[in-house]
Order: sequence, then structure tokens, then C-alpha cells
Amino acid sequence: MAKVVIFGILDTAELAHFYLTHDSEHEVVAFTVNREYMNSTEFRGLPVVAFEDVETVFTPGEYHFFAPMTGRGMNKNRERVYLEAKAKGYPFISYISSKATHFGNEIGENCFILEDNTIQPFTTIGNNVVLWSGNHIGHHGRIDDHVFFTSHVVMSGHCHIGSYSFFGVNSTIRDYLNVAEGTLLGMASALYKDSEPWGVYIGNPPKKLPKPSYETY
Ligand SMILES: CC(C)(COP(=O)(O)OP(=O)(O)OC[C@H]1O[C@@H](n2cnc3c(N)ncnc32)[C@H](O)[C@@H]1OP(=O)(O)O)[C@@H](O)C(=O)NCCC(=O)NCCS
Repeated sequence: MAKVVIFGILDTAELAHFYLTHDSEHEVVAFTVNREYMNSTEFRGLPVVAFEDVETVFTPGEYHFFAPMTGRGMNKNRERVYLEAKAKGYPFISYISSKATHFGNEIGENCFILEDNTIQPFTTIGNNVVLWSGNHIGHHGRIDDHVFFTSHVVMSGHCHIGSYSFFGVNSTIRDYLNVAEGTLLGMASALYKDSEPWGVYIGNPPKKLPKPSYETY
């Protein structure tokens, strides 16, 4: 059991508090955000402290950190907070729903894995990865760091998912694909071939948009 400080005071942080409280052994003790976003000193009945000096109030030796943020900015915002909290010396938790199906897969830190995800055997998941609800994560695959799966995505077997990639709702990835770093696959879109780094693909069959993903999402 860890005492946990959650980053954020918006929906995702509120959901993380709910899931950790109702479906984990951990105890949430506080929230933290950057000082400029602090509009209250309390959220969900717990203290909110400025991220700039959170380590002086909740010492990294005693407390764990959790930053389950959205995929906005192609996951770079979440990466920044994750790395800054790591530099402060915090250990991280990951949350894996008791309603997810998995088989002792290797899963990194600061991952947020919600209900109804199926992670098949021999697939590994890196650090700072979000699997929102209901994804199929096929066998013999690899998901690198800072990736975001929204909901009901099918990642077929033997796929490699590069860092920072983002998959819209109901999107589909063919088996044996190498999905390059920073790929954005739009909602209800399908990827048939390996993608290019920071490429945006929409539709089925997919069309590659001219703008790179970091200018799109
Ligand atoms: C790919 C995406 C990021 C593009 O967003 P955008 O830059 O705001 O694009 P727009 O909505 O302005 O659409 C641009 C054009 O592409 C089309 N388009 C957008 N997404 C599409 C998709 N997934 N499939 C097919 N066509 C799509 C639009 O119809 C529009 O066509 P038009 O120019 O002929 O009118 C967005 O559509 C998407 O899929 N986001 C993921 C949403 C999601 O899954 N959210 C889950 C909650 S986190």
C-alpha cells in the first residue's frame, strides 16, 4: 500500500482518485498542480499543493506519485510532469483495473489502465502509458513509453507501438505493424501498413494528413 499524491485537479485526476479509492490498495493523500492553475487549496476533501514545492510537503521517501494525464500535446505534457516528478525523486505507482484482463505482463510505472482492457500474453507495456477503457492489446507486442489508447482500439498481435503515439476511439491496427514514434491514428480509422514518425492517419482505408501529429493534437 502506498500513500499517493495525484497530479491534476480536473476530470482525469478526479477519476484517478475514484479508481484508486475504490479499486486499489493505495491511499490518495493529496493533489498537486502547477501554482498558476491552483484555484483552491482543497479537492475531493484533500489538500491541493503547488507542484513547484510538493516535495517539501510530501517527501518522496514517504509518498508515491501518480500523473494520469490526457494525451493532449501528443503525450508530451504528461511526459513533462512524469519526468519532473521523477527528478524530484518520487517513486510512481501504476493503476491496473481489477476489471482488466492480463497475464502478469511487464507493465511500467505511471500507467493508467482502466476496465475491460485485454492485454494478451507476451506483450510488454512501457512507462507512462494510458489504456482508457475497453482496448484489445494483442499478443507478442510492445508498447513504448508515453503512449495513449483511448477506447475500443484493436491492436492486433505482434505490433510495436512507438513512443508518444495516440489512438482515437474505435481505431484498428493490423498485425505485425511497426507504428512509428508520434503516430496519430484518428477515431474509427485503420492502419494497414507501418506508419511514419509523427504521421496523422484518418479514415479506412487511411489517408495521411499533411500536418504532423504534434501540430494536430
Ligand atoms: C484525427 C483528428 C485528431 C483530427 O482532428 P482535427 O484536426 O480537429 O480535424 P477536423 O475535425 O477539423 O477534421 C478535418 C477533416 O478530416 C475529417 N476527419 C477527421 N477525423 C476523421 C476520422 N477519424 N476519420 C475520417 N475522417 C476524419 C473531417 O471530417 C474533416 O473533413 P472535411 O475537411 O472534409 O470536413 C480527430 O478527428 C480525431 O480522430 N481525434 C481523436 C478523437 C478521440 O478518439 N477522442 C477520444 C476521447 S480522448
